[in-house]
Amino acid sequence: MLVSGYFIAFEGIDGVGKTTQLFILYHELRGRGCKVVLTREPGGTRVGEAIRRVLLDDAHQEMSPETEALLYAAARAQFVSQVVRPALARGEIVLSDRFVDSYLAYQGFGRGLDLTALERVNALATGGLSPDLTILLDMPAATALARLDVDRQDRLERQSVDFYERVRRGYRQLAATDPSRYLVLEADREVEDLAAVILERVEVVLGLV
Ligand SMILES: Nc1ncnc2c1ncn2[C@@H]1O[C@H](COP(=O)(O)OP(=O)(O)OP(=O)(O)O)[C@@H](O)[C@H]1O
Ligand SMILES: [Mg+2]
Repeated sequence: MLVSGYFIAFEGIDGVGKTTQLFILYHELRGRGCKVVLTREPGGTRVGEAIRRVLLDDAHQEMSPETEALLYAAARAQFVSQVVRPALARGEIVLSDRFVDSYLAYQGFGRGLDLTALERVNALATGGLSPDLTILLDMPAATALARLDVDRQDRLERQSVDFYERVRRGYRQLAATDPSRYLVLEADREVEDLAAVILERVEVVLGLV
């Protein structure tokens, strides 16, 4: 029997293959007749997009890490209330390209903001909503970044490989705190192999097999 309202997040550093796997799973589930919402923060909400413009504006070079963290949380609050919760309430499957773990891994483990404070801000933003299953794609930062096109690499090189390795360790630490809610995969493998492992787990948790 198909469970109703299920929330799956894809996590991992830049270039590990989150978006690739998210689309494959989306089409597989749609092919099985599931109602699936594919989304990423700020999820197309008007308020979220406005916050995103503030975050990405080159004129805002002086923005402090704390301000940045609060703005991300504000966008997430809108995303959760306007997109995620309504979809789950309709009994749909929500596939999100990144969610809270990215926040904790990048702002906390990467930039060094206080994790407890970030978790409290996040609790306000999400009202405690967390994914039913988080798929963590894990691989060395240097290999993951090398997959991205040269333009992206140039921008990302502003952050060192060390930064991404810290973020990577953060993700793994988060996964270790609640192993039953994570599927941690070694992501340096064929796209099809990864997709098969992910689908197998998702079919089980959704009661499709
Ligand atoms: N298993 C894989 N093996 C080799 N290349 C892959 C694999 N998965 C994805 N790629 C390629 O690596 C690049 C990055 O993949 P993708 O965009 O899915 O990563 P991402 O995790 O979504 O990255 P970002 O965080 O930057 O959005 C793409 O060119 C994609 O085709
Ligand atoms: Mg992506």
